[in-house]
Amino acid sequence: MAFPPSFLEELRSRLPLSGIVAKRVRMVRAGREFKGCCPFHNEKTPSFYVNDDKQFYHCFGCGSHGDIIGFTMRFDHLSFPEAVEILAAQAGLQVPQDTPQEREQYNLEKRLYQVLERATAWFEEQLFSPQGREALNYLRGRGLTEESIKRFHLGFAPNDSQSMIKKLSGEGFSLDELKAVGLIKKSEDRPDHFSFFRNRVIFPVGDRRGRTVAFGGRVMDDGGPKYLNSPDHVLFHKGKLLYGLSRARAAISQGQPIIVVEGYMDVIALVEEGFHGAAAPLGTALTEDQINILWKLLPPPDTRDPSKDYSPILCFDGDNAGIKASARAVERILPMLTAAQTVRVAYLPEGEDPDSLIKRSGKSSMQSILDQAKPMIDVIWDLTLANRRLTTPEERGAFISSIKHRISRIKDESLRSLYNDEIQKRISAAFSWQKTSTKTGKFNRSNKRELFTTGTPDGLSRKQPLNPQKLRERVLLAIMINHPSLFGEFGEDLAQIGFFTPTLEALRQQLVNLLSDDSHEPLDAEELYRQLSGGADTKIQATGLSETLSEATYVHAGFARPDKPVEQARQGWKSIWNKHLQELLQADMQAAKRQYAENASEENLTRLLALRSQIETLNRESAVGDGTDSTLLLSI
Ligand code: UTP
Ligand code: MN
Repeated sequence: MAFPPSFLEELRSRLPLSGIVAKRVRMVRAGREFKGCCPFHNEKTPSFYVNDDKQFYHCFGCGSHGDIIGFTMRFDHLSFPEAVEILAAQAGLQVPQDTPQEREQYNLEKRLYQVLERATAWFEEQLFSPQGREALNYLRGRGLTEESIKRFHLGFAPNDSQSMIKKLSGEGFSLDELKAVGLIKKSEDRPDHFSFFRNRVIFPVGDRRGRTVAFGGRVMDDGGPKYLNSPDHVLFHKGKLLYGLSRARAAISQGQPIIVVEGYMDVIALVEEGFHGAAAPLGTALTEDQINILWKLLPPPDTRDPSKDYSPILCFDGDNAGIKASARAVERILPMLTAAQTVRVAYLPEGEDPDSLIKRSGKSSMQSILDQAKPMIDVIWDLTLANRRLTTPEERGAFISSIKHRISRIKDESLRSLYNDEIQKRISAAFSWQKTSTKTGKFNRSNKRELFTTGTPDGLSRKQPLNPQKLRERVLLAIMINHPSLFGEFGEDLAQIGFFTPTLEALRQQLVNLLSDDSHEPLDAEELYRQLSGGADTKIQATGLSETLSEATYVHAGFARPDKPVEQARQGWKSIWNKHLQELLQADMQAAKRQYAENASEENLTRLLALRSQIETLNRESAVGDGTDSTLLLSI
């Protein structure tokens, strides 16, 4: 009996081989595989290996070899259809009946895989033919090497509607077959057909085994929709596949994390830099099916190395749209969370996608963004906190009920209760902190921001991609440490305003002391760094120093890097300083407005008016344009 290949494929993918084997044989993890004593011959030392990626087992002792169906047949002494039937029941799949229609279906699918494979090769040939020159140049212009163009089987669909049809028909494929996989469409007003992709760069989309099932086609200029994607068809459902899936699947067994990004080019850029776990949905927001597919790629929970985090990292742009998109993704994922199935979220600098970030600032910047990926609990906390005021009991109450509502959507009972415990702890810690600090905080201009996540389970401090104030403080310090000659011009600024982040405030004070000490020659950057890192009471300052001079800072503000010309650093300082002052004044202004609303005294009014005029002055100064380049601001 012939089962359709897609059915058998589905069966194999739903049931990890190691899971089925482990029910009968004691297995232990051995690198990317599992090993145990072979059930098919008598042995004392294990030589029976199971590889979930390749979906087969192999015994080096007796040579027995096969897939999940073969294993079940042999172990349980079943025929092929019997084994399939039993496994299908375990996987919750309906066994297709071997009717003539089904046989036909099987043959049709086989043909469709073939036509897709031929089309992929044809598009590739076109890219390297004279008419593909512009497309090839386009890809090279985007920084792609010949090697990755070949590795991803990129191609070109020429601007003519017939040549592919002619070629593939000549090879014996019917118009119906071409139409069934979305390669051609029928003209509305004429009897003939035309190619769906024309004058576009082609990105073949592979299924989990890497067989092409669809294409994305990108324009090379600004005309028309940027990407066209194959319509869904019998072998392709865009909500149930990700670009890069087969490579990501292999990468996991090499210990690489899954990285979910938005676009084709992002996946390619990441893979070029060695991030083989990169995958992207196909032009839609990440679906539940896609998340489940990614989770299924992970090793079974009891075989995982407990010191490692296996959760996929979802990358979003750090701008408002990206934060909103991350909030929507979180809402979708919350009900599905379990201890073994979760995600992390990483935010990119505003306006960058992984491709542009890597091209601009290199692999280390991307690595640093991934290192800052936040676990789900922090993501929920920060998203709920964003832009919220927490000054009154009502505001705090609203925050608590909002975060509890989010957590109530987690279906897994034990995980939900762990989340509730954790949130409870954070709430008490955060609000008691706030109570004491409002009384004493000299620089308590925006204390709610300090509530953003800082702790990680391993006790290391987590950097804070969502806290622009801290980022600005770091950038200012980094500029001054890397270019101390700017102290003459900006030292007074730096001396006059305290920083809100305690580690950075300690560093600021130490820096100002060192640079304003004129009992010796001015310090150069090297000597300054030596003194900062070797100072006497350094624990807190050292933390501030290493945070400040980190890739996590530079990735948002390249002009602060030590090797940048001092003039760039100078312009950068002006932009950031201006923004910093504006934010501080705005916060004071909000507070003054509230005070005045509570008590319309002369004194409060005077304060309000004074602040307003300070803000106006500042705005005027920055509007006059002192050479400050606002594009330097990036995400700050
Ligand atoms: P983006 O607009 O972010 O493009 O779309 P990109 O991936 O950065 O592409 P480049 O760098 O400009 O070439 C992200 C993804 O959304 C889908 C595609 O899958 C794309 O990779 N998309 C985008 C479409 O399907 N259609 C479109 O018109 C645009
Ligand atoms: Mn892009």
